[in-house]
Amino acid sequence: MNPTIDIEVQAHNFATDMQAALASASKQISPKYFYDAKGSLLFDQICELPEYYPTRTEWAVLEQYAPQMAECLGADIDLIEFGAGSLRKVRLLLDALMAQKTPPKSYVPIDISGAHLAESSLQLQKQYPALGVTTWVSDYSQALVLPPALMQANRRRMGFFPGSSLGNFAPGEALAFMTQAAQMLGGGGLLVGVDLVKDPQVLHAAYNDQQGITAAFNLNLLARANRELGADFDLNAFAHYAFYEPRHQRIEMHLQSLRAQHVRLLGQTYSFREGETLHTENSYKYTLDSLHQLAKQAGFEVGIHWTDSQQQFCVQWLIAP
Ligand SMILES: C[S@@+](CC[C@H](N)C(=O)[O-])C[C@H]1O[C@@H](n2cnc3c(N)ncnc32)[C@H](O)[C@@H]1O
Repeated sequence: MNPTIDIEVQAHNFATDMQAALASASKQISPKYFYDAKGSLLFDQICELPEYYPTRTEWAVLEQYAPQMAECLGADIDLIEFGAGSLRKVRLLLDALMAQKTPPKSYVPIDISGAHLAESSLQLQKQYPALGVTTWVSDYSQALVLPPALMQANRRRMGFFPGSSLGNFAPGEALAFMTQAAQMLGGGGLLVGVDLVKDPQVLHAAYNDQQGITAAFNLNLLARANRELGADFDLNAFAHYAFYEPRHQRIEMHLQSLRAQHVRLLGQTYSFREGETLHTENSYKYTLDSLHQLAKQAGFEVGIHWTDSQQQFCVQWLIAP
């Protein structure tokens, strides 16, 4: 594991990105900053919500088709998971790989949320004591970097990118990530889970749950800025605001200022007008066509895909030549 360097880099990046967002006429920050230890726990609660269909739908697709996916992944591989979170879904792949007697040579979960990743990895190791696990705290929106031992091993690399996290990238960023992934996984492939375009009401409900967990997750960004950057955001003066934006086929998540106000952060004062928002997340929804086009442009060959009966969510197999 590589926690120390990355924690310092992350704190610096959070500070500079927050300052830039607040100083901008159109305030926006990357959703990667949701995920401190608290944010990761809140995301796990989101996954359990009745309105949040993506997790249980992807889970069901993985559960049903894991043996076919394991065949695609094959033997003697290093399995690299991007945005691994609580390492739940990968258990379905690991079980299928073990059932076909091709356990991976190693498993490398990558996540930006270091403490949560360490704890999740401990739990996983207890359940799979023979599995070589190398946790890797890293920001996959930057240059994709792998642990040195993995680079040296030079085995066939297979990627796993579930949770529709690809949808958090704007189109240009998604292409940059996928292009890097295709190169890094050359000779192997990538299993990617994406949320599909659907009835806007279903989407709206998924990001506006009745218990207010998604709102707490969104507001945790401001709480994190108060904790880590000494900011003085009044959490009662901002509201969670999420809606489907059909032109870009994406959910937008914002924090809306409920009144005109000033906020202090790292020695500077920033102002919000009443109703002004800090744009905190986009979640792009894909069609099979748009996903395939992106994958081909990035250098992948499009393989088989699996979806649920209502075509809500898709797990796509991509070959990296
Ligand atoms: C939407 S959650 C998905 C979690 C899990 N893979 C799942 O499918 O339920 C996104 C995960 O990616 C991580 N993450 C978000 N942005 C990241 C980044 N730029 N680099 C590395 N990890 C990131 C978060 O910490 C979180 O665990």
